[in-house]
Amino acid sequence: MADKVREVIDEFGGKHEFREGLEGVIAALSTIGSIDGEKGILLYRGIPIEQLAEHSTFEETTYFLLNGRLPKRQELTAFEKKLKSRREVPPAALDLIRTFPTTANAMDLVRTTVSALGLYDSDPKNNMLEKNVERAIDLIAAFPTIVAAIQRRRSGKEFVAPRQDLGHAANFLYMVNGEAPTDYVAKVMDVALILHADHGFNASTFTSRVVISSKSDMYSAITAAVGSLKGPLHGGANSEVMSTLQSIGSIDKVEAYVMDRLAKKEKVMGFGHRVYHTYDPRARILSQYSQQLAQQTGNMKWYDMSKKIEEIMVRELGEKGIYPNVDFYSATVYYYMGLDQELFTPIFAVSRIAGWTAHVIEQLQNNRLFRPRAVYSGEKNVPYVPIDKR
Ligand code: SDX
Repeated sequence: MADKVREVIDEFGGKHEFREGLEGVIAALSTIGSIDGEKGILLYRGIPIEQLAEHSTFEETTYFLLNGRLPKRQELTAFEKKLKSRREVPPAALDLIRTFPTTANAMDLVRTTVSALGLYDSDPKNNMLEKNVERAIDLIAAFPTIVAAIQRRRSGKEFVAPRQDLGHAANFLYMVNGEAPTDYVAKVMDVALILHADHGFNASTFTSRVVISSKSDMYSAITAAVGSLKGPLHGGANSEVMSTLQSIGSIDKVEAYVMDRLAKKEKVMGFGHRVYHTYDPRARILSQYSQQLAQQTGNMKWYDMSKKIEEIMVRELGEKGIYPNVDFYSATVYYYMGLDQELFTPIFAVSRIAGWTAHVIEQLQNNRLFRPRAVYSGEKNVPYVPIDKR
């Protein structure tokens, strides 16, 4: 980290501390989440993630993130009903998905569809708190429908309309596969959605807050956030992890693969984190589900390979604080659930929409335009050369 935090002198001779990638910079006060990167503790509004994963549901966690307190029973029932009633998306958005090339990247399709949703909001510029809370619920309810439709489009299948009798996670899997999942598989998806719902000022959440800080609109903020999440250093890593496992092929080739990559100073996907210098608590939970799914499907291969990669990475880089992050074990969890690899990062978005919207709302409540500065490190006093003299 030493060379990533250094003193720089600006063009006017002023000295500044420069933290590459804004590492450790405090950009806002927030009551949504808290991460202890040294101890590996993640809290949503004060509650440890392990407790939410064990006892809550994605619907309840979403209510909690948006409202700042756990719902009473009748509040939760009303919230679940509201989410269900908003699963249908504007038909024009589905028509748009039908026009998309089937070969395009799934996250690009999600980004474009979310952007288009803004066109069907009759009052998109209205950033009143109550309006944005309702808009957040609309988006949280719509994301599974959009992602499932995109997946069906990409595989040349007809869309599956949402069902009212299934929970959020189960209905999502139903719309993707055309059949309802077992209770166990629905539970695993629900836990995965809880675990990905929020994570402080990660790149995509920060992006959404930067966009809304100009008093733009929710759709613009979320569209930008989807674009940020897509990258392989962020949410795109889960799909890359599966590609890595497949390209390694078998457990006996893991050691050589990892050592070769490290020797070439290349990153191993699903490891390392800007904030955690220890085990990501979400990866711990997902690792257990990956193991259970491996046992249930009678296919230990991908879990065993993952464990082996982890063992070598921790042996080689544990001292530097490199451990598995959330994307490492979500990959095999989704794979064992029979989900297409292209869907892994969109699933992250189906969950993170809860955190993004909560942050957009929080940003607007005490807004100040984000506007940092750069130190100019280019040439000065460069003469303008007429075009025919260059
Ligand atoms: C997510 O921020 C969030 O909260 C994100 C997230 C969320 O919920 O929103 O948690 C989700 O995005 C998880 C991260 C998924 N990305 C990956 O798995 C990609 C692989 N990991 C990395 O490239 C990396 O660890 C980052 C991008 C996640 C964090 O990188 P930093 O903080 O910019 O650190 P760095 O790249 O500067 O690395 C620091 C050191 C370097 O070594 P030195 O130059 O100091 O010798 O650690 C090494 C790196 O080479 N390192 C790795 C490594 N990650 C870091 N070495 C090998 N393999 C890796 N994966």
